[in-house]
Amino acid sequence: MENHLLPIIHFTEEVMSRGEGSYVYDTEGKKYLDLNSGQFCVALGHSNEEVMSKIFEKAGKIVHTASNIYTDEVAECSNKLNKLSGEMDAYSILLSTGSEAVEFCMRFSKFLKGRDGVVCFDRGYHGLTLGSQTITFGGKFAKPHIDNIATVPVPVTEEEAEASAEELGKLLATGQYASVILEPIVSVGGMLYPPEKWFSLLRKVCDDNDTLLIFDESQTGFGRTGEWFAYQAFHTVPDMVVLAKSVGLGFPVSVAMFRKELVPDETYRMSHYSSHQNDSFAAAIINTGIEYIEKHDVLAGVKVRGDLFLEKLKALEEKNEHIKDARGHGLMLGCELYYEGVEDYRPLYAKLYDRMMKNGVIIQGTNGGHTLRFLPDYLLEEEDMDLAVETLDRVLNEL
Ligand SMILES: Cc1ncc(COP(=O)(O)O)c(C=O)c1O
Repeated sequence: MENHLLPIIHFTEEVMSRGEGSYVYDTEGKKYLDLNSGQFCVALGHSNEEVMSKIFEKAGKIVHTASNIYTDEVAECSNKLNKLSGEMDAYSILLSTGSEAVEFCMRFSKFLKGRDGVVCFDRGYHGLTLGSQTITFGGKFAKPHIDNIATVPVPVTEEEAEASAEELGKLLATGQYASVILEPIVSVGGMLYPPEKWFSLLRKVCDDNDTLLIFDESQTGFGRTGEWFAYQAFHTVPDMVVLAKSVGLGFPVSVAMFRKELVPDETYRMSHYSSHQNDSFAAAIINTGIEYIEKHDVLAGVKVRGDLFLEKLKALEEKNEHIKDARGHGLMLGCELYYEGVEDYRPLYAKLYDRMMKNGVIIQGTNGGHTLRFLPDYLLEEEDMDLAVETLDRVLNEL
């Protein structure tokens, strides 16, 4: 379709015009199963009628105020997040994107500790603004860099977890670092699931060295693991949490959450101004999401649906030689592609993506096309999982 969009990405031929539940429809009316919930954002499905009518009813009252004025909706949202955060007893600011909330946490960790450095992990993704890009993949692709960033490997085994924590301990002992930031489940970096033990090791290392621990839960947060926050699934309380994607139900909303003890007594010490902070509309979206998830017991459903989808992916792995290492936690699943002799999976993945699309299923690869990831909406039905797995089985064999 003719357009004047900046060509910053390779767009698909198909142009969408409508979404409903787990499906999107193109301008010709053809339907596609969206296995990645619109870049992992539409957690409750595309244009969920109950959700949208509530959000727009609230938007009809008020959308925005000045940065120093808040609404009852915003206060309620902060109270709801505080209650859900449990032991963290969190104070929140509502922002717009994951990168913005990451930058916010980085900036305030430096401010609170009076130190410049931040430690990240080698396969972590945290966004593409200046600061967040410098801690994405250890800043490998960042131009320009910000200073004082150190990188430690993400572990997958228990032994690697010990080594990773030890290396971190040595870095933090230099006294240069304000914070350590990680993704509890590493998504873009290849669907890596660090052992639970790692989180408590990191907590201890950070405590021993008076350094703040930040969980970037842009993908894992707001229910995707079957808990409100992944830190609850991994039994480690961080100092700051970033929420994005699912928390906005498809709208540009993010949150930076801080453990209560970090919040300075003096008003204005943590000043921050942006055109979109603590917007009433953002709060209306989050409040609606929380109410819907609680009313329909969605978190329990995420666990059941996640286990079922994983079972089906494992059955596919048994049956189809091109799938290996199916894995997952809640509705955050992945597997590896395997074709004998192939080293660069990019061209093969591009073909797979196109053929799946032609067959009405939208997938997403990462890790140079080697890894497939599935982060569907929280209400994905079993018949849709079957459609996904059957289509994948057929198309993989045709490649
Ligand atoms: C873990 C993580 N952090 C941060 C971001 C950046 O979020 P945004 O693209 O909304 O800036 C992403 C986006 O994919 C992400 O997955």
